[in-house]
Amino acid sequence: MSNSFSKPCIAVIGLGYVGLPLAIEFSKFFRVIGFDINSKKIISLKKGIDENLEIKNIDFKKKNILFTNNPNALHEASFFIICVPTPILPNFKPDLSYIINATKLVGGFLKKDDIVIYESTVFPGCTEDICNPILERISKLKINKDYILGYSPERINPGDKKRKLTKIAKVISASSKVGLIKIYKIYSKVIKAKIYKATSIKVAEASKILENVQRSLNISLINEVSVIFKKMNINTKEVIEAARTKWNFMDYRPGLVGGHCIAVDPYYLSYKAKELGVSSKLILSGQEINESIPKLISDKILKILSYKKRIHHKILILGVTFKENCPDLRDSKVINIIDNLSNKKNQIFIFDPWTKKESLKKTLNKKIIFLDQLNINSKFDVIIIAVRHKIFKKIGIKKIKNLLKKDGYIYDVKNFFHQKYSNETL
Ligand SMILES: NC(=O)c1ccc[n+]([C@@H]2O[C@H](COP(=O)([O-])OP(=O)(O)OC[C@H]3O[C@@H](n4cnc5c(N)ncnc54)[C@H](O)[C@@H]3O)[C@@H](O)[C@H]2O)c1
Repeated sequence: MSNSFSKPCIAVIGLGYVGLPLAIEFSKFFRVIGFDINSKKIISLKKGIDENLEIKNIDFKKKNILFTNNPNALHEASFFIICVPTPILPNFKPDLSYIINATKLVGGFLKKDDIVIYESTVFPGCTEDICNPILERISKLKINKDYILGYSPERINPGDKKRKLTKIAKVISASSKVGLIKIYKIYSKVIKAKIYKATSIKVAEASKILENVQRSLNISLINEVSVIFKKMNINTKEVIEAARTKWNFMDYRPGLVGGHCIAVDPYYLSYKAKELGVSSKLILSGQEINESIPKLISDKILKILSYKKRIHHKILILGVTFKENCPDLRDSKVINIIDNLSNKKNQIFIFDPWTKKESLKKTLNKKIIFLDQLNINSKFDVIIIAVRHKIFKKIGIKKIKNLLKKDGYIYDVKNFFHQKYSNETL
């Protein structure tokens, strides 16, 4: 490898929740090409606007970064970081189309001595067994002889203002020892937390999947027990408070498991397991439990409404994103709740200052009314606090309660597991 690599030009492929913060941080030390196929996103980024609201405008200023959707710009890059989506298909199989397309693109620009790192979450083996053959075929180069392959899982937590990219311990891996040192040198410029050198690419890939499978499964367990406790009129919150006095009790809370990480990644591992003829029964039953929760919640609300014996019901949903303080709607389980509540009798209103009407309309092609603000003159039969954005706390439970009809209910999804009917909190 040549010495010119000491100051590489870094190309970040895919400028979403993962890619953009990386591109911004690297641009403080290196020249960066931020490439995305979404031309609208590139226009916004050039204006200094991150539509995911993770990066403030000010962070864009004076950065050594070129935002582009023109692949030709990639000619100059020698260190490629691939951060494209890895969702699942409707049949729960991995949708590798984005990562394959990005790999083909990078393959076309790969030169001797370059490095390609994947940050997208994948099943173990995807980087070396699926992506690398494409890189070799298109570039006509050989791994380790000509270029280095690496994998570094991302742990960024959108909406989390404390745990920012540079403060999160990072796992790195490479196809060779020399490569690992080079990758370490580049990442250590931006990552101020620990950088852990995994023993192989497959270990690094598997570590990310394990983190998310573990979290998803633990939540599914607490979801299942809280449904049992609820039937017994036992408050799960109080049970957890008691149980957590034991030193090794793990404090997981019940709730909706959405988003494109913990709701999706377990399917990547179970897909691989199936391919190998190995059972992943436990993982899949966890997924099944988590996916049953939106229906449990909406059935409960439909039951409450059925007691009212009205011709029409007005339902207000507060928050529709997959998690709080973040505009991400992908795999939001609130959408499933809305789907289940949608019928001729129910008129559904949504108030979520974190999302734009256009993105909501794209996701929910139903007759739903999107509110820009809470109007004190509207009165609802049920108000569902579906996501606890900080702004709802600011608005306050008192004002929210004022929006209820006399016999109306506030239904806090977080409290679904704890109380018969919830009517307080925030
Ligand atoms: N968002 C998170 O919190 C998070 C955390 C850890 C890991 N991950 C993983 O990181 C990966 C990226 O996730 P994300 O949330 O940043 O996704 P995202 O959808 O926010 O961003 C991905 C970007 O890639 C672009 N893109 C798609 N195909 C492309 C191509 N061929 N070339 C260039 N750009 C392309 C899209 O236009 C989009 O802007 C996924 O594998 C995800 O599972 C995400």
